[in-house]
Amino acid sequence: MATTIGGLTTSHVPAIGGAIARGRQQEPYWKPFFDGFVPVRKWLAQAAPDLVIIFYNDHGLNFFLDKMPTFAVGAAAEYVSADEGWGIPTTASFRGHPEFSWHLIESLVADEFDPVTCQEMRVDHAVTLPMALLWPDQRWPVRVVPVCINTVQFPLPSARRCFRLGSAVGRAVQSWPGNERVLMIGSGGLSHQLDGERAGFINRAFDLQFMDSLITDPQWVTRFDSRQIVEQAGTQGVELLSWLAARAALPGAVTRLHSNYHIPISNTASGLMLMASDPTARAATGAGGGVA
Ligand code: DHB
Ligand code: FE
Repeated sequence: MATTIGGLTTSHVPAIGGAIARGRQQEPYWKPFFDGFVPVRKWLAQAAPDLVIIFYNDHGLNFFLDKMPTFAVGAAAEYVSADEGWGIPTTASFRGHPEFSWHLIESLVADEFDPVTCQEMRVDHAVTLPMALLWPDQRWPVRVVPVCINTVQFPLPSARRCFRLGSAVGRAVQSWPGNERVLMIGSGGLSHQLDGERAGFINRAFDLQFMDSLITDPQWVTRFDSRQIVEQAGTQGVELLSWLAARAALPGAVTRLHSNYHIPISNTASGLMLMASDPTARAATGAGGGVA
């Protein structure tokens, strides 16, 4: 049986790609953000995942406003990083796991979800940046299965629905006969708004409560409908739905192994959390669960 080793949730701002390309990780603006990943990489080295399931939102690279699936699952052998127009360098492609993808899709459909199945799929900064932050040499040691959630064009799936999607993905992992070590990634958020009258909006109190809730009361945010989440977290802050799905995909109670929260990176309140079901894994990070 496959083992879910933990969940990693992070923001994904395009400017991070520019900072990586220019080697700016130690500059004062960037250091509090990049330093947050040091304990995560220490943990990863011993946790040794070989399959990543990444919940994220596409920003117009693979899906545009004319065709916008609520949920889409990758079933490709390879996912290509392509120029998406932010001026950030592309990365090496990601190796997929089509056999597992089809198991996941069949399991989701049996669970009454209706995902779009993508045998060809390009991935944008919401996939490439978390991966580059976890594996800076960009020689991906894992296979990747992307699970895309529409956080871009209304109507959005509710938080409750995203929680259920994550739980269903977790069940699919448990019923997969392979022996993969699976890391769940949730990419997006936290509070930010890029346009309109509230451009630049950030809500630290809400973000911190949301982060805590993933440990103590994971369904807390499901009390808000999509408009209320926009009110609380900003138009693009709804990307936190990917964090929620990734958390829901982890079986049982989880421990916070590490977290970081830093305002702002570009227009975004950047957040990072590492969660695992197994409390003994905490020793390997060499770090606590502080909020910067
Ligand atoms: C920014 C944040 C995002 O999540 C995104 O997809 C694009 C830009 C930003 O803060 O600049
Ligand atoms: Fe985004």
